[in-house]
Amino acid sequence: MPDLSVPYMGLALKNPLVASSSPLTESPDSIRRMEDMGIAAVVLPSLFEEQLQIESAALDEDLWRGAEEFAEATTYLPDLSRYNTGPDGYLELVRRSKHAVAIPVIASLNGVTPSGWVRYAKHIEQAGADAIELNLYTLETDPLRTGEEIEESYCDLVGQVKSSVRIPVAVKLSPNFSSIANMAKRLDRAGADALVLFNRFYQPEFDIEALEVVPRLHLSQPHELLPRLHWAAILHGHVKANLAVTGGVHSAVDVLKCMMAGANVAMMTSALLENGVRFAHRVLADMDQWMEEHEYASVKQMIGSMSHRSVPDPRALERGNYMKVLSSYALRLR
Ligand SMILES: Cc1cc2nc3c(=O)[nH]c(=O)nc-3n(C[C@H](O)[C@H](O)[C@H](O)COP(=O)(O)O)c2cc1C
Repeated sequence: MPDLSVPYMGLALKNPLVASSSPLTESPDSIRRMEDMGIAAVVLPSLFEEQLQIESAALDEDLWRGAEEFAEATTYLPDLSRYNTGPDGYLELVRRSKHAVAIPVIASLNGVTPSGWVRYAKHIEQAGADAIELNLYTLETDPLRTGEEIEESYCDLVGQVKSSVRIPVAVKLSPNFSSIANMAKRLDRAGADALVLFNRFYQPEFDIEALEVVPRLHLSQPHELLPRLHWAAILHGHVKANLAVTGGVHSAVDVLKCMMAGANVAMMTSALLENGVRFAHRVLADMDQWMEEHEYASVKQMIGSMSHRSVPDPRALERGNYMKVLSSYALRLR
């Protein structure tokens, strides 16, 4: 039997398949079921900076930029009670999940501004989480804010979370930076123990009958894996942080590709939502079979084997490939 175990930011995982943050990880029962199906670790749904700011406003005067702003923030917030249970409930979820399963439980904080709420990371650690994933999901719409300012504030934030806890901190980042490689390096320097590639951005739908812009969530498609593989392959070996891939992982072959590109773990949500949690068992069995057929003794030996550093022709991962891709299509037309 091949050895599927992998290290992930200091945690010993029995295999590289992790359930990413979603409603599938919002209850200890569901997490237990995932453990039964072989999933090696889970990331809990994110707790949002806005929820924490509101909760801690009374405690943290720094956060008060005015009662008006506070009132505005609370009216804008959707009712999240069906998604996560708010700050106190969240700590309870961490505790109960830890009690229910032996696999690592990673909490998720969604925030982008370094401020008082960051202290909440400490409570998450005390509640027993094995690690924290910092979900840097934001949409920067202020034309006066420069890319440099935004990037600096992200690095600050990571530094602040890191300095408030001892458990590992992963950063789930966006693919939308002018230089992903530079951003990855800076987050690495700020202390990120893992980089999770990449956040999926959800675009609102335009309802032209109702003249309303409405939220709409589409599950991922397998082709979304490609940019993630590409960047895992480029970053592998250039940052100390471990790499994780999230977005478009739909099969055992996808997980194997993530490993070969340079990730230590592959995360899954859409495929589990579509096929049921039982699907994880099949993915792991297929991985096992593929590795036996191809005489791989362990997953560890394949990590990074197709990364920029390892492939015989690294230009395949560079700009030169652009021209090659375009010309390959033209040839097919003949
Ligand atoms: C219904 C739903 C809720 C999600 N909630 C969160 C969340 O709270 N925090 C987060 O970081 N990602 C969240 N995600 C994103 C997933 O963790 C994952 O990164 C994304 O779905 C891409 O992976 P996939 O292709 O395997 O679905 C959510 C995804 C879905 C479908």
